[in-house]
Amino acid sequence: MEDFIRRLPKVELHLHIEGSMEPELMFELAQRNNVSLPYASVEEARNAYHFQDLQSFLDIYYQGADVLITERDFFDLTWAYLMRCKADNVIHTEIFFDPQTHTARGIAFDTVINGIYHALKQGEKELGITSQLIMCFLRHLSEEAAFETLEQAKPHLNRIVGVGLDSSELGNPPEKFARVFAEALSLGLKTVAHAGEEGPAQNIRDAISLLHVSRVDHGVQCVQDDELVSELALSRMPLTVCPLSNIKLRVFDSMTDHNIIRLLDRGLCVTINSDDPAFFGGYMTDNFLALYHAMAPTRSQFAQFTRNAIEAAFVSPEAKQAMMQKLDDFTVVNHLH
Ligand code: ADE
Ligand code: ZN
Repeated sequence: MEDFIRRLPKVELHLHIEGSMEPELMFELAQRNNVSLPYASVEEARNAYHFQDLQSFLDIYYQGADVLITERDFFDLTWAYLMRCKADNVIHTEIFFDPQTHTARGIAFDTVINGIYHALKQGEKELGITSQLIMCFLRHLSEEAAFETLEQAKPHLNRIVGVGLDSSELGNPPEKFARVFAEALSLGLKTVAHAGEEGPAQNIRDAISLLHVSRVDHGVQCVQDDELVSELALSRMPLTVCPLSNIKLRVFDSMTDHNIIRLLDRGLCVTINSDDPAFFGGYMTDNFLALYHAMAPTRSQFAQFTRNAIEAAFVSPEAKQAMMQKLDDFTVVNHLH
């Protein structure tokens, strides 16, 4: 089964590129750029990665991003993540980046997006991994700051498929960003938002009705509202669920308490993703394996997670068809048909 999970073609839809920075790379970049770190060693950094909740994680995560200065740094960060994708048989990935984390430190928007984008293009050419880029607004910052960020993105709209909303959910509800999301939609961008990670089910309803999202990131708190769960199943609204993240940030006490399999059984379009793998203990395969060890889902349930992710991906019908074919080829060989 573990071998099956490793080889299963996967599609990732919820990955913060800044959250894929392993402590080894963080130290390398700190040295390259003469930035001081609050840790004496890689081991000390890893030992600091224990969190009580989302905010305690975010404080450490934003601090780690300080080592990212040049276009090459953003390229190296993205390339390292793509190598993990290759190892995990991720065939397509849609990654988030947080421009405000960098522009607030005086790093140009262009430096950030150029580095990430060039690595993604090289990944497509050399590794055969396709990708999309989603720009997130930090919800603890103002609506005005989000509008400024959207303005900076305008010369790069051909490189960005959509906008998202991340950072501290509690106290920063979807309605705060309804107007900037409306402008993003009018520019032809898709919208997604973190909702119902730590926050209430109402945030999921509001992300759908006020931000017109095509996918909900996390969304696991939907179970507070049974009517909502039925609506999500009926509409096939995708939820990009992040199992290891939810355990590390204490959304669930343990993996055996996680609700992703129950949501799958109720017909929701749930997917498995890694969120911030360098901080939460693993990449895509690790998330699949953690679920397997806790709840022993079947092979066809694991294949369904990839099928759901392909359905939810921001790509053309032809590209979806090609990915479904890769999955079908795999399942036939593994006697799932
Ligand atoms: N930024 C990076 N990871 C996040 C998460 N899990 N929730 C909200 N904001 C984030
Ligand atoms: Zn996230």
